[in-house]
Amino acid sequence: MLNQVRARAVGLLKTARAELQKGNENGAGRIYKQVARIYYDGYKETKATGKPDKGLLDEAQRWNIESKSLLGTLRQPLEERLDEVPAFTPEPIKETIDLTAVKGLHETKERILNTVAMRILNLLEKPDGILFYGPPGTGKTLLARALAGECTKALENSGYKVYFFNVDRSEVQSHLFGVTEKNLKNVFETAKKYASVEKSISLVFFDELHGLISSTGSEKSELGERVAATFYTLLDGLSGRGNILPIGATNYPTKLPAPLLRSGRYGVSILVPPPDLEALTAMFGSYTKEFPAFTFKINPEKLGAKAKAKSFTGADVKGVFEKTAVRKTQELCNYEGERSLAEVIEELKIKQNILKTKPITDADFEAVIAGTKSSLPLWYSEIEKDLEKAPEAYRAYFSELETLVKQNNERTAAARNV
Ligand SMILES: Nc1ncnc2c1ncn2[C@@H]1O[C@H](COP(=O)(O)OP(=O)(O)OP(=O)(O)O)[C@@H](O)[C@H]1O
Ligand SMILES: [Mg+2]
Repeated sequence: MLNQVRARAVGLLKTARAELQKGNENGAGRIYKQVARIYYDGYKETKATGKPDKGLLDEAQRWNIESKSLLGTLRQPLEERLDEVPAFTPEPIKETIDLTAVKGLHETKERILNTVAMRILNLLEKPDGILFYGPPGTGKTLLARALAGECTKALENSGYKVYFFNVDRSEVQSHLFGVTEKNLKNVFETAKKYASVEKSISLVFFDELHGLISSTGSEKSELGERVAATFYTLLDGLSGRGNILPIGATNYPTKLPAPLLRSGRYGVSILVPPPDLEALTAMFGSYTKEFPAFTFKINPEKLGAKAKAKSFTGADVKGVFEKTAVRKTQELCNYEGERSLAEVIEELKIKQNILKTKPITDADFEAVIAGTKSSLPLWYSEIEKDLEKAPEAYRAYFSELETLVKQNNERTAAARNV
């Protein structure tokens, strides 16, 4: 049989060779494809008789590869293809803020400081990554950045270098096969490289960790699981290296898979709760510095109490500042009809000085606070649903989260009864 098929192919092979001599690779590639087809058809015939001729199949595959390599459609091995994708390499960032930028959260900060200090002094045998979790807008991202600045401040006098990698998920994640894993490896390699010099520490921060590694929803795909497995291996690979500290943050800890939280990985979880009265007051006192175009004549305690009564987060207060500033500006420019951006800019330039002489007052803030809703209720209702579905062990791990939800329910019920 093999010989019969070979006879059928011989003419085509001769033509292909002639095409190659003329430099027509595409032409030859197309003919080789036909040759592969002839061998494959022959193979199918033998298969149908119950005695498949493996030699025919081998020939078919051989000419198929020849054809693809000439037509340029040969699939490269994965490693080679990955080499062509530019690798994402994180750059260390210098953070200038320290933990004083984070208002309130005394207990949280104390826990973080203790964990980090123990690590720096090598008091732990198996150093864990630290996960910040809690409602949105409560300062988790701010805490990670401030911690990096705090480490620098504490250690630079003793000749240490602190490298902070704030890994942007969008730069790491890719839908292309294998690329996310490759990028993650690169992040860890880079952090290791920086930390390999004596007296060097790398902090690697993965924000919105539930978006990168998730146990639920569409992420629970083959791709998601491969990425998670790679991430675990990379975290495990840090074992015994006290000078690389993985930090993570999430507002949906219930979406994180249990293996991620195992000791040696993100084994330390620290709750970042909504701000208390003192923290909110401090925010009203300090955010004014971030709006230098305005002057303020306010009573932070009073506004803090208003914000507390509405269960605002730090992000909510920031939003209130922005809205109040816009309102104040608009008050000065009460124009009817339509005008262009250029005209508005011109007017604001002229009126900028008036802004300085008309301070923002408690009344300005109160009007905005009254019209602003806390961002927490939606989160509470979603997290409560997730917790109900979660296995017992999981709920025990995040027991503080349950307490937070319970307290919120009690508060809501009390408010309803007033
Ligand atoms: N305790 C705080 N002290 C000072 N500012 C705060 C505090 N909490 C939040 N903020 C401010 O609120 C805004 C949101 O904070 P941040 O981004 O850190 O929240 P987050 O907890 O990371 O939220 P998310 O879960 O949505 O990512 C920032 O502008 C931050 O400066
Ligand atoms: Mg954040």
